[in-house]
Parts: sequence; structure tokens; C-alpha cells
Amino acid sequence: MKREQWGSRAGFILAAVGSAIGLGNIWRFPYMAYENGGGAFFIPYLFAMISAGIPFMIMEFSLGHKLRGAAPRAFAKMGGKLEWLGWFQVFIAAIIAVYYVAIIGWAISYLGYSFGQSWGSDTNAFFFSEYLQLGENSPSSLGSLQLHIAIPMALAWGITFAAIYTGVKGGIERASKIMMPLLFLMVIALIGRVVFLPGAMDGLNYLFQPDFSKILDAKVWSAAYGQIFFTLSVGFAIMIAYSSYLPEKSDINNNAFMTVLINCGFSITAGVLIFGVLGYMAQEQAKPLTDVVSAGVGLAFVTIPAAINLLPLPFILGPLFFLALVVAGLSSHISIIEAVTSAIIDKLNWSRKKAASVVCGTGFVVSLAFATNGGLLLLDLVDYFINNVALLSSCLIELVVIAWLFKISDVRDYVNNISEFSIGKWFEVCIRFLSPAMLAVILATNLINTFK
Ligand code: PHE
Ligand code: NA
Repeated sequence: MKREQWGSRAGFILAAVGSAIGLGNIWRFPYMAYENGGGAFFIPYLFAMISAGIPFMIMEFSLGHKLRGAAPRAFAKMGGKLEWLGWFQVFIAAIIAVYYVAIIGWAISYLGYSFGQSWGSDTNAFFFSEYLQLGENSPSSLGSLQLHIAIPMALAWGITFAAIYTGVKGGIERASKIMMPLLFLMVIALIGRVVFLPGAMDGLNYLFQPDFSKILDAKVWSAAYGQIFFTLSVGFAIMIAYSSYLPEKSDINNNAFMTVLINCGFSITAGVLIFGVLGYMAQEQAKPLTDVVSAGVGLAFVTIPAAINLLPLPFILGPLFFLALVVAGLSSHISIIEAVTSAIIDKLNWSRKKAASVVCGTGFVVSLAFATNGGLLLLDLVDYFINNVALLSSCLIELVVIAWLFKISDVRDYVNNISEFSIGKWFEVCIRFLSPAMLAVILATNLINTFK
């Protein structure tokens, strides 16, 4: 059977950008930047983007393009019994898929609440006690299934399933072509209103004002690298699967640069949006900004709803924000599920329809664990493990295997041959030495901190 193909170059880039831009850009990036020195975070972040993000993206695009397979098959074709590495990545992708969808489910619920701000004035109590029902949580058990969380999660699975089931061009590409332009328009509309609010500029100052004392802190570098790999969806079989559907004639270098730059540009834009809102909120409540910021899950589901309560036209800006979150999340979720589905299609020769049904059906059942009273606890645990251990080790193993067992100059020749502009020797230096060294140090530090 002939391998499916993207319908157009723009379709591929929108799908790759759709995977890259996700929940990680809207709620994770802003608080990472905030916690790690504000403006000073951009230096490690941009360094990680150039030295690790771009080379990694080029490498994964070239793997999928040349070897024409999802990660397990692509690695198997490289020889040396490497198929396990592909399955390891697919396994991590599957874990991400089941907890990521929980957050999309919350965002769908909050989209509903946002029309009338039915989260009330105490958004903290609403989220943790009423929505997540943590009050009844006993640490030894997951508690009972919360239908009001399970139903929006099922909806998210349904949309992902429809896209994967329909196929690369008719499903994933078509969904990306609708979702991504919609997402950009919504974010532009939100920013257009938010930056003119009183206090917004104070928020931006906070985000962009560099705290240079942090730049020598190893934790900041670790956060920057972790964020780059998470945000670009590299190292989890995803970009390999997507690029395996590229036509023969494809400009790999250009596609990779576009994907990375659009994603990171979007992150900074989202940072402006979030911190503009926070600055306004600080001014309205006459509090210092540090008192209104909260990290992680709390940012999107506690702080932002509280800010929306104070905004002009909350019934428009609120739904815009949560719809943006849902759309960004769904397009990433589709890509994670495609990484798993395409691996199974390659291996078992199943039809796409059968593979999609089995993967989404199983995924849905497993993800219900996150719709229980213990869901948040479990989510924090999985999220910690993914970000601090799995993500970095997966990327490190991939780099070591490819760069040290194979000739990385061949990869460079390969992409330069088919691309309009060529990448220089720096690519090899980054892939062989710089990125593995950075990743090894960061991973070791994280492991030590975890078991300390
Ligand atoms: N890159 C996406 C984000 O930033 C989602 C994602 C993360 C996809 C990790 C795959 C792996 O949210
Ligand atoms: Na991203």
C-alpha cells in the first residue's frame, strides 16, 4: 500500500506547528519564563532553541522523510536493532496523550463556564473543590469517576479520533488548516484588547525585565532545555511520523526553521497576553504582581478565570481564551495519537480505521483515571516524571544513537541536498557534542534532585 501524503507544503507546516503549539505554549511557557528570571530566561531559551531545537527538528524531519516510517520502523531501518527506541518513544507519547487530554477536558469545561463566569469569585475553591472534587480525595485511592470531567474528555477524544480515523490529508491536515488560523486570529484579538488595559505594561515589564542573577543558575538552563523539547514535540516519535508523509521533494531545512520559529514566536506572544492580563489584574486589585501569579495548572484554571472576572466584556474574552486553549491542545493531541497510531499501522499492517479505533478506545479508558478525585495528584506525578526524566532521556538516547553510531555528516548532506538553503557544520557540532552534553548534565541533575 502506498504511504499517505500531505496535500501541500502549507498543510504539513500547519500540522507540525499544530503539534508544536499546545498547552505548553499558553500556560507552561509564561510561568517558566516568569519563574526563571523573566527576560533573562530568554537567553538560555533562545540558546536551547538554536543549539538543540532547530538541529533536532531538522534531524527528525530528515529521518521521517528518508526512512518513510513511524518512529519504530524508521529506527529499525537504521539497522542495529534500534526498533525498541521507536517503541520507547511511542510509549512515552502514549503516556503524554492520556494526561494531556485531561487538561484539554478541563479547558472544554471552562470554555462552557466562561460564557457566564460560572466559576464565581473564588476561582481557587471552585477549581480544586468543586470542579476537581479534591475534598473527597483520599490519598490511598483514586476515588470515584467524575462524570462532569469524563464527558468533556470524551469529547476531546472524539475530535482527535475523527481526525486520525479520516487520515493524513483529509483528517489531520484539514483539521490543522482550520484550527491554526483560528488560533492565531483568536490570540491576536485577545492581545489587541489586553495590551490597552491599564497595568498591562507593568505585566510585560515583569516578564521581560531580566534578572541576570539567574542566568548562572543551572536550574534555569535545565528549564529552558526541557521547555524547548516539550514545546517542539521532538523526541517522542511525533515529528518522525509527520515527516514520513512528506513528498519526495520537500525543503526540510526551511520547514524545520519555520516550524520552530512560528512555535517559539507564538510562545512569546502568549507570554505577552498572559502577563498583560496579570499586570491588569495586579493594578485592579492593588496588589504586587508576584501576589497574583500562580504556577502550573493554577495559572490557566485559577488565575485566568479570576482575571476574566475583572476584564471588560468577560463573556467574549473568556470564551476566546478557553477556545484558544482547547484548539491549541487538540491539535497537539491529534499529533501525539498519530505517532502511536502510525506505529501500529506500520507494524501490524492494520487499516488506519482499525488502528485509530483501538488506540483511541484504549486511550480513552486509560485517561479516565485522570477524571477521578485522585486525578490531579496522578497528573502531577506523571507530569513531573515526563518533564524531568522521560523527555530528557528519550532525547538524549536518540541523539547518542544517531550521532555516535551513524555519520551525522550524512544527515547534513542529505538535508542540504534537498533544501534551498544549506545548514553548516554547526549542525553536526550541536547534535554530536553540545546537545548531548547539555542533556546529560541536566538529566543527571534532575535525577539527583528527584531521589534526594
Ligand atoms: N508541543 C505541545 C505543547 O507544547 C504538546 C506536546 C508535548 C506534544 C509533548 C508532544 C509531546 O503543548
Ligand atoms: Na509548543
